[in-house]
Amino acid sequence: MDVFEIEGSRRLSGEIEVNGSKNAALPLMAAALLTTEPITFDDVPDLSDIRNMQMLLTELGCAIERTGQHSCILHTTDTTESHARYDIVKTMRASVCVLGPLLAARGKARVSLPGGCAIGQRPIDLHLRGLEALGATFELQEGDVIGRVPGGRLRGARVFLGGAFGSTVLGTANVMSAATLAEGTTVIESAACEPEIVDVANLLNSMGAKITGAGSPRIVVEGVKELGGANHRVIPDRIEAGTLMVAAAITAGDLTITNCPLDALMAATNCLEQIGVEVRALDDESSMRARVRVQGGRAFNPCDITTQPHPGFPTDLQAQFMALLTLADGTSVITEKIFPERFLHVAELSRMGAQLFRQGPTAIVSGVRRLVGAPVMASDLRASAGLVLAGLAAEGTTRVLRVYHLDRGYEKLEERLATVGAQIKRVTVED
Ligand code: UD1
Repeated sequence: MDVFEIEGSRRLSGEIEVNGSKNAALPLMAAALLTTEPITFDDVPDLSDIRNMQMLLTELGCAIERTGQHSCILHTTDTTESHARYDIVKTMRASVCVLGPLLAARGKARVSLPGGCAIGQRPIDLHLRGLEALGATFELQEGDVIGRVPGGRLRGARVFLGGAFGSTVLGTANVMSAATLAEGTTVIESAACEPEIVDVANLLNSMGAKITGAGSPRIVVEGVKELGGANHRVIPDRIEAGTLMVAAAITAGDLTITNCPLDALMAATNCLEQIGVEVRALDDESSMRARVRVQGGRAFNPCDITTQPHPGFPTDLQAQFMALLTLADGTSVITEKIFPERFLHVAELSRMGAQLFRQGPTAIVSGVRRLVGAPVMASDLRASAGLVLAGLAAEGTTRVLRVYHLDRGYEKLEERLATVGAQIKRVTVED
């Protein structure tokens, strides 16, 4: 098992680049199933989730050629296999994003139902309801969802994707991708507005799809008969960028973050400003690839945060901001409206001296003057990032166990943080 060992209280400074977005890359890669022409991708992060997606796509007849550390060509050459097996789906829930493309391109799909995970139950009912509206039928067999398209081609329809916790990001990607090859027009109401959806729509349009409205709650897709190849550069990862911003803030540091999707981070930068952290665009103020300077001071104001669908505060930055607010002068209230159970990091941060009280979907964070290093356990991807950030600020040594969670979403984070002054290293220990 790999562990991060962090000697805290080091001020970070220098320049650091944001990698391509994992959450965009996964549904983008799945879109390669919609055509038998090659698709070339740049800025695909080198992560375990991406490698799992490559493995899944390979099993589904899509040949993958790595042309560089962050670039690859995906080419679907064999359309006979339509089964996303449990072995892969259980390691990565996002495997479900092959469902829409498979149904649209092959008229059938068998996708193992992703189980729950550390951050909650995570159903896919909205995905299925949306695809049913386009004419697919589903049955459950041995833990797999088996989808069929009677007549072989989906039909455009009005689809409502709102659920109890807002829209669904991968559900929107699934329905939007499927609708590109449907007969007629699809209108998705209550679509997810996340920037990753815009990126997927941009790729699909360059493959020949006719999608308008991506990035708004109403997406219109005019179906076409076939899609072709394309070249695509993945957008930068807004969650990695937000994590690096907190790294600058929590160490009273001074980081210049390049390839930073500032436009997609308004809620997070607004909170940072309330907290007293300076965030300044060094070039074009509104950009998805900005240079941004982030400077943390010695004192932080408290700030109340409620996670919401985009453009609200992202749930994927909740743990990182909680780590920062443990050191604020006063009390902050953090409410989780997307994954109400996503608080496993609370107990771990408490081991480092944080004063936290959780009740239901809310955590009360009473700021303390300092955190102290401790062995802590990563439980999920973003919670791990929160623990690493706390370790960077804490006095003494922090050991973050189970960093394989972190490796799912942050490429060589320890090496990159070390280049801007963090004292952090990966060590392998016996399980
Ligand atoms: C995506 C992101 C994940 C992020 C999440 C919310 C990827 C690979 N992952 O996950 O990092 O935390 O968005 O921003 O892009 N829900 C239902 N029924 C469904 C689908 C979802 O009730 O069919 C609920 C979920 O339990 C959750 C909320 O809707 O409470 C949002 O989930 P969703 O947007 O679907 O998350 P993902 O797309 O899986």
